[in-house]
Amino acid sequence: MHLEGQFFKLVRWYSHGGRSSDMAEDLRGKVAIITGASSGIGKETALALAGEGVRVVLAARREPRLREVAEMIDARGGQALIVPTDMSVPHEVERLIRMVVERFQRIDLLINNAGYGLFASIEETTTDDLRRIMEVNFIGAFVAIKAVLPVMRQQGRGHIINVASVAGKRALPYSGAYSATKFALVALSESLRVELAGSGIDVSLVCPAATATEFFQVAENRTGRRVRPVGPVQSAGEVARAIVGLARRPRPEVITFKPARALVVLNAVSPRMIDWAMRQSIKRARQRREESTAAGAGPGV
Ligand SMILES: NC(=O)c1ccc[n+]([C@@H]2O[C@H](COP(=O)([O-])OP(=O)(O)OC[C@H]3O[C@@H](n4cnc5c(N)ncnc54)[C@H](OP(=O)(O)O)[C@@H]3O)[C@@H](O)[C@H]2O)c1
Repeated sequence: MHLEGQFFKLVRWYSHGGRSSDMAEDLRGKVAIITGASSGIGKETALALAGEGVRVVLAARREPRLREVAEMIDARGGQALIVPTDMSVPHEVERLIRMVVERFQRIDLLINNAGYGLFASIEETTTDDLRRIMEVNFIGAFVAIKAVLPVMRQQGRGHIINVASVAGKRALPYSGAYSATKFALVALSESLRVELAGSGIDVSLVCPAATATEFFQVAENRTGRRVRPVGPVQSAGEVARAIVGLARRPRPEVITFKPARALVVLNAVSPRMIDWAMRQSIKRARQRREESTAAGAGPGV
C-alpha cells in the first residue's frame, strides 16, 4: 500500500480545487459518449459539444431520434456516430464502449445522462418499479463507467460526467425511487472521484433542477394527475452549457440552478424545515387543483 504517495496525490488534487489540472481543456478533436442523446439535456449537450469540435457518440434507444440529432450535427459541420443502446442492458452498454474504442481508439468524455422519472408514493412503488429505474438511471451508468475506466486508465486521462439531479441531494416526495437512483449516482461519483485522484481521470456531477424537456411527459406516473415541475424551470440548453463548462474545466460538482444550492445547504442544516416547505408546496398544489376542479377545468393540474 503506497498510502503516503496516495496522500500527497490527494493533497495535490485538492489544491487544484478537485481538478487534475487547472488548465481549461481545448475540446477540439476529443471523443465524447453521451447517453440519453435522443432528447432534452443529452441532445443539447451533444449539439453544444459538437459545436466545440468534439466527436460525439450518441446513445439512446430511439434510433430515428438519434439520427435526427446526428443530421443536425453533420449539417453544422460536426461529427457524430450513433449507437442505439438500451442502458438497462449491460451487454449493450459494454458493446457501446467497445464500438467507440474500435472506431476512435480513445474515449475522452463519458456523459452518463440517460434516465427517466417515476412519480409515485413509496407505497405505490413496486419492487419491480424500483429495480427497473435503478437499472437505467444507476446501474447503466455504473456499467458504462466500469467499461470505460480501463480505456481511460490506459490513456492516462479522461473525464466522467454523471448527470444526477437536485433530487439526488434532497429527495422529493412522490419521487422516492427516482431520488434514490440519483442519490446512488452521487455516492458512486463521490467515491470514484477520490479513488481516481492523481490518475488523470476526472469525475464530475451535474445536478440540474427542473428542466424543460420530455422528462415530465415520459415519466411513469402513478399519481393519477398530470405532474409538472414546481417552481422555476431551466432550459436544456442551460444545463448543456454547464456540462460543456465542466468538460472544459473539470470540477467535482455543479448544481445548475443557483437557488437550488440553498436548498441543499438548508437541508443539511435543518431537514425538518425542508420537510415543512415541501408539505406547504404540496398543500398549495392540492388547493389549486381543487379550485380548478370546482371551476370546471377538470382534474390533472
Ligand atoms: N428534466 C428535468 O427536470 C431533470 C432534472 C434533473 C435531472 N434530470 C436528469 O437529466 C437526464 C436527462 O433527462 P431529460 O430531462 O433530458 O429528459 P428526456 O428529454 O426525457 O431525456 C431522457 C433521455 O434518456 C434516454 N433514456 C431513457 N431510458 C433509456 C434507456 N433505457 N436506455 C437508453 N437511454 C434511455 C432517452 O432516450 P430513449 O427514450 O430514446 O432511449 C432520452 O434521450 C436524466 O438523467 C434526468 O434524470 C432531469
